[in-house]
Parts: sequence; C-alpha cells; structure tokens
Amino acid sequence: MAKKTRVQQRSMQIEVRESGVHGRGVYAAQFIPKGARIIEYTGERVAWEDAPDDVNNPHTFNFGLENGAVINPEVGGNDARWINHSCDPNCEAIEEDDRIFIDAIRDIQPGEELFYDYHMELDEPITESARRKFACHCGAVSCRGTMIEIED
Ligand SMILES: C[S@@+](CC[C@H](N)C(=O)[O-])C[C@H]1O[C@@H](n2cnc3c(N)ncnc32)[C@H](O)[C@@H]1O
Ligand SMILES: [Zn+2]
Repeated sequence: MAKKTRVQQRSMQIEVRESGVHGRGVYAAQFIPKGARIIEYTGERVAWEDAPDDVNNPHTFNFGLENGAVINPEVGGNDARWINHSCDPNCEAIEEDDRIFIDAIRDIQPGEELFYDYHMELDEPITESARRKFACHCGAVSCRGTMIEIED
C-alpha cells in the first residue's frame, strides 16, 4: 500500500511593528511571491449588532463577511488584524467559505509593509465629511483619500 504523504502548508513569515501609515502594521519578513496565501483573518464570528465597535468608528478591527456576520479579532484573532489599508495594495482579502484569507497580489520583498484595500462600506451616505472621517493616509499616487469604497 502506498504511504500517505502529509503536505504541510507553511505560512509566510511576517512581523508586526510600528507603521508609517497608521499605528501598528504588518511587514514581510521574507520574500513573498505573487499569489501566496499569507495569513487568515481569524476571530470570533458575531452579528453586526453584536460587533464590539460602533460600525461608524473609523478605527475598527471588524471584518464584514458576505453573509452579514462580522469577524471580531479581539477573540481568537491573530496578526492579520494589524494589516493596514492602501489604495494601491500588495495584498487582497479573499473570502472563501465564510473565512477571510490575505493573499499577495504581487511579489513582496522582505521589509515591505503588507496592505490590502479595505473597500469599507458605510450604512450612511458617503458625504464629504464621511470621506474625511475615514481618511486614508496610504500615500499612494492613486490614493482616493478615503478607506471607503467609492463607486464610479
Ligand atoms: C485593522 S486596524 C489596522 C491596525 C492599525 N494600524 C492599528 O494599529 O490599530 C484598522 C484601522 O487602522 C487604521 N488604518 C489602517 N489603514 C489606514 C490608512 N491607510 N489610513 C488611515 N488609517 C488607517 C484605521 O483606523 C482602521 O480602522
Ligand atoms: Zn489611500
């Protein structure tokens, strides 16, 4: 009988430290090739109304799922909670079976900060004041000035 081989998926090496964009950020501690799965955004699943932050608080760790639930990383969370937003990101957040994974969308060099586009959605009209409240400091040439998703 053939021996079964267990293929262990190794996660990418990353580190959390102070960010030039906001608070703490997450950095590549090794070369990360385009397409690599870096980390899962883990945490407790809660209903929107039970999420710990006010949904309109611009400083939030809640991650909204398509089924309407929210991932709250205060319970069972990991380093993914520290990844900042950029309008010109090197990662993307992918939802699969009600789980969120952060994947590289281009090659990332050791020492580069990891970012994905938060595509924030509000339950209020996207006014100029809302854009300012959720102002983006990513510094990208293509920065849209806000972490809120803006439809063209
Ligand atoms: C999941 S936390 C990321 C970790 C955060 N840097 C910290 O130290 O708490 C998300 C929050 O970080 C801030 N943030 C992340 N990216 C940002 C950006 N590009 N511009 C401004 N604030 C940002 C916002 O307050 C956002 O709600
Ligand atoms: Zn930006």
